[in-house]
Amino acid sequence: MTVNTMIPVARPWMDEREAEAARRAILSGWVTQGPEVAAFEREFAAAVGAPHACAVSSCTTALHLALLAAGVGAGDEVITVTHSFIATANAIRYCGATPVFVDIQLETFNIDPALVEAAISARTKAILAVHQLGMPCDLASLIEVAGRRGIPVVEDAACAIGSEISWQGAWERIGAPRGDIACFSFHPRKLVSTGDGGMLTTSDPALDRKFRLRRQHGMSVPDSVRHASNQVIFEDYPVLGYNYRMTDIQAAIGREQLKRLPAIVARRRELAARYQAGLESLDGIIVPREPAWARSNWQSYAVRIGAWIDQRTVMQRMLDAGVSTRRGATNVHREAAYPPEAWRAAGTLALSDEALETAIVLPLYHQLTEEDQDRVIDSLKSAVHSS
Ligand SMILES: Cc1ncc(COP(=O)(O)O)c(C=O)c1O
Repeated sequence: MTVNTMIPVARPWMDEREAEAARRAILSGWVTQGPEVAAFEREFAAAVGAPHACAVSSCTTALHLALLAAGVGAGDEVITVTHSFIATANAIRYCGATPVFVDIQLETFNIDPALVEAAISARTKAILAVHQLGMPCDLASLIEVAGRRGIPVVEDAACAIGSEISWQGAWERIGAPRGDIACFSFHPRKLVSTGDGGMLTTSDPALDRKFRLRRQHGMSVPDSVRHASNQVIFEDYPVLGYNYRMTDIQAAIGREQLKRLPAIVARRRELAARYQAGLESLDGIIVPREPAWARSNWQSYAVRIGAWIDQRTVMQRMLDAGVSTRRGATNVHREAAYPPEAWRAAGTLALSDEALETAIVLPLYHQLTEEDQDRVIDSLKSAVHSS
């Protein structure tokens, strides 16, 4: 009997280069936020085309700092989607504000911009726009509505490093200035990983200063400045801050990972095209589509199955065949952590619910071989068609 090894849903691409970078940071004598973080920030800013980049401990903490800097506080509302990783809405609640959920478009799993205007109230302080699973959301439409109403746009770009959007006639990476702030994740399911970690980008130096102050306890003078000074400096604490620092060990790894980004995006786009070719004509399987103005990094490749097919059964059959899958994003308002008083819905969330029950994320990572990808395709076909 042939025993097939399990195909995981995701796998980071790291080797001796990252190990060597971590070693360099460890032996340098400076292991927390310091010169490697500063270099990673410069390189990240250049890679996405942003004037400022500020490294933090995760995308969740980046979102918290972004919303605080946008002025979100107790009693405010922030418009977003329920269909996302729970950290999106959690960050709003960390500020004492209420998430207002609008529905998505099934083809992209992203916010439907046509529903945003009706969701705006006198308490709306920001729009938190998610680029779900790496697929750019319709920023042009969102920014148009937000601009008319004077509301800041924060991008939850946790999954979207290397994704591109056609902007005023040119392809640009997510993170270049369009909304007010973009927040990225370096969790191991993302294309670039530092174990855990996050980054905020902005074109506004005042916002960047706010992130830097709050990520390090609200301390007026960073350690690196005191360390380099030949004068005694006493710091002060003008605002309530947090310990949201990235370490230099993580940043050194991130700098190596960033060099791999073009190759990672290219390989994922190749594999996504193979999934599309192998699955698009099959009954009961709907493949994701890029709008004409979007190029996904395919951080996750989620198909939808026909509503008459049971998602859990398909996923279990695939697991039995040695193929690991995941549901797509969750629906935050369905979780016990979100009692009715913790959120507001602007209209029906029916398409979010449909996505929750029908989306299946297939394995996709840089090292996935075409042979293994064919195994995934075959196992999905037989799991769906024996249902
Ligand atoms: C859309 C979205 N937002 C936020 C996060 C949180 O990122 P992190 O794990 O870096 O805090 C994730 C993580 O997967 C995500 O997918």
